[in-house]
Amino acid sequence: MRDVFRRQAEHFEALGSPVYARLAERLALDPSPVEPILGDDDAWDAPLRLFGAVHYLVLSEAAPDALSGRWEDFAAALVAHQDALRRRVATQGVQTNEVQRCTFVLPALLAAAAETRLPLELLELGPSAGLNLLADRYRYRYANGPWGPEDARLELVVEERGGRVPAGLLAEELVVRRRRGIDLAPVDSTTRDGYLLLRSFLWPGLDQRLERLEAAAATLRELPERPELIRGDFVRSLPALLDERPADALTVVFETFSAIFLPAETAAELERALDTAGADGRPLAWVSVVHGGDDPTHGDFELELRIWPGPARLAARVDPHGNWLDWRL
Ligand SMILES: C[S@@+](CC[C@H](N)C(=O)[O-])C[C@H]1O[C@@H](n2cnc3c(N)ncnc32)[C@H](O)[C@@H]1O
Repeated sequence: MRDVFRRQAEHFEALGSPVYARLAERLALDPSPVEPILGDDDAWDAPLRLFGAVHYLVLSEAAPDALSGRWEDFAAALVAHQDALRRRVATQGVQTNEVQRCTFVLPALLAAAAETRLPLELLELGPSAGLNLLADRYRYRYANGPWGPEDARLELVVEERGGRVPAGLLAEELVVRRRRGIDLAPVDSTTRDGYLLLRSFLWPGLDQRLERLEAAAATLRELPERPELIRGDFVRSLPALLDERPADALTVVFETFSAIFLPAETAAELERALDTAGADGRPLAWVSVVHGGDDPTHGDFELELRIWPGPARLAARVDPHGNWLDWRL
């Protein structure tokens, strides 16, 4: 357990959360307050679940001082809320919805719309709270110009390394006719509990992510028609949903950091479902983040775009959090 906290303390420090880093360092030296909570759970994400659970106590005002940064306050909250924390870390997995990833999803949607000249029906696999299903409701600043509603609550900026999103794509409009997502544990960000859950996994210090979450959640709240979030396993549910898709719109199935974790066999099942549907002639596109080559200057993740009956194409190399992209289409 000490090693898990030591490694996580380094990550917290490197990724901008000094408060969590100090507390995790102390837990690496003295794990006694956390042992009754985690038991023998020393999975890599155990510290993330623990800090998320403590942060939730702070946000819901059950333990408002637990993350003051003082070890005494933190350790006291672990003792006082031991049972509630034990239950929460055992049942609540890390749950985040990173809207900055829309910086690479959006141009892929624009490319799909430009190539097919059809309205879109979005179907996201693993949408969490569905905030990325609103990609067309945010404003973007790309090197070649802006895109999106001028009065959007959220403006996203991305560094473009190498390839830039072409001005021609940024001149395209998107018509989104339907927004749906399938998630094992969808989050309703319009409820207090759902919103606090998403906030609880944002580490103190990551202020920009918090601002983005607030603006995206407000966008969703104000939307006349909210995305439909279906609870279920997307590999199992997908074939039936694709079977009933329309012929007069492009169904875009997309995912960011949801399918990449699937075991090879399940990933192959998902691919077969898409291929079978793509072969029936009704419009279908697939946008997905995959592991890329090993070019160290460009990171390890690639965005793939497939529009049936064509092959999968490399759309961009991307940063996992959407902070930079290298457009390739
Ligand atoms: C790391 S989060 C990514 C959320 C969102 N796509 C984003 O980029 O911010 C992964 C999401 O996928 C969901 N998920 C993972 N496997 C799933 C499956 N087989 N079926 C449905 N949802 C799944 C999880 O519940 C979680 O909400």
